[in-house]
Amino acid sequence: MMTLGIESSCDECSAAILHDGELLSHEIASQIPIHQKYGGVVPELASRAHILDIIEVLDLAFENAGISHRDIDNVAVTQGPGLIGSLLVGIEAAKAFAYANDKPLIGVHHTEGHLLAPLLSTDERYPAPQLPFMGLVVSGGHTNLIRVNGIGDYTHVGETLDDAAGEALDKIGKALGLSYPGGVAIDKISVGGNATAFDLPRPLKNRNNFDFSFSGLKTAALTQLRKIGELPTGELLADFCASTLEAVVDSLVSKTIRAAIAYQTPSVVVTGGVSANRRLRERFELACREADLMLSIPPLQLCTDNAAMIAQLGALKFLQRKRNENADKIYGFDAFDLAPHPSWRIV
Ligand code: KG4
Ligand code: ZN
Repeated sequence: MMTLGIESSCDECSAAILHDGELLSHEIASQIPIHQKYGGVVPELASRAHILDIIEVLDLAFENAGISHRDIDNVAVTQGPGLIGSLLVGIEAAKAFAYANDKPLIGVHHTEGHLLAPLLSTDERYPAPQLPFMGLVVSGGHTNLIRVNGIGDYTHVGETLDDAAGEALDKIGKALGLSYPGGVAIDKISVGGNATAFDLPRPLKNRNNFDFSFSGLKTAALTQLRKIGELPTGELLADFCASTLEAVVDSLVSKTIRAAIAYQTPSVVVTGGVSANRRLRERFELACREADLMLSIPPLQLCTDNAAMIAQLGALKFLQRKRNENADKIYGFDAFDLAPHPSWRIV
């Protein structure tokens, strides 16, 4: 089965072609340079950039896969959650392709795509996870703990009550005058920094639930920054970044491990943009080894927003559909019905 996947929910315009579970091509046009000067994603600029990028990204995906439009069996596109203008561009491109080539189309959930991304892993260090697993989706828009019982069968375990972990890192990075996205800059600068130099809170860490909170940590970091009086540089900046990152990582690791034990899942999956983080990976590796849990983190390119995870999820849904008539709605010639769901909850 040959599936075309399209992703445009935020600031990455991406297309991928998946053949029976194997990626034939995977193209991503990043908009980081466009949003960098504003310190965050500007939705209007994001949708305009998607309009300029989408055809080129699709053409490249076909060129690099060495196949023609006719070889595609079905199409999957991110339906939500995400920025409405950005989502619309991918959805309209997918509809146009499906209509012109008379192929079935499915709209899929972006967070579900992230959650199942490690199933695409061919990395020996982080093999694809076994079901069921405890999934932590941690990105600029989400911090969710979800038990994956099976494909399409999820149990809500916990979520952030305020900011997403990546959002908090991005905002702290912006206050530090670092380049966008702040999470990536903090990751780089924190190497070699002293993670205990600044005393920052771990909100809800010892609370008897699996929810997260990062806005208190963000405020505490900004208060400490104000006390320093000027923007830190050199060693002080490295210490500040390492201390901030450690506070975020502490909350994420401790709750996820506790949840995996409480919900009896032998495997842990960490996915979403923040899972690219060096320190988060280190700490999860250590904690999973100690708790005798299997850890799976997708390769870097599959951590941040990408169409490979969307193609995979679409392919899984098409296969499920073949077995079960009640599976998600697949659009045929009525593809024009497919509308974006900007605030779609996964569970
Ligand atoms: O999954 P993603 O590409 O988009 C969303 O769906 O949000 O995640 C983007 C987020 C940003 O907040 C970015 O700062 C963060 O992931 N991020 C990182 C790293 N790489 C990306 N945070 C910490 N360390 C990184 N290496
Ligand atoms: Zn994402």
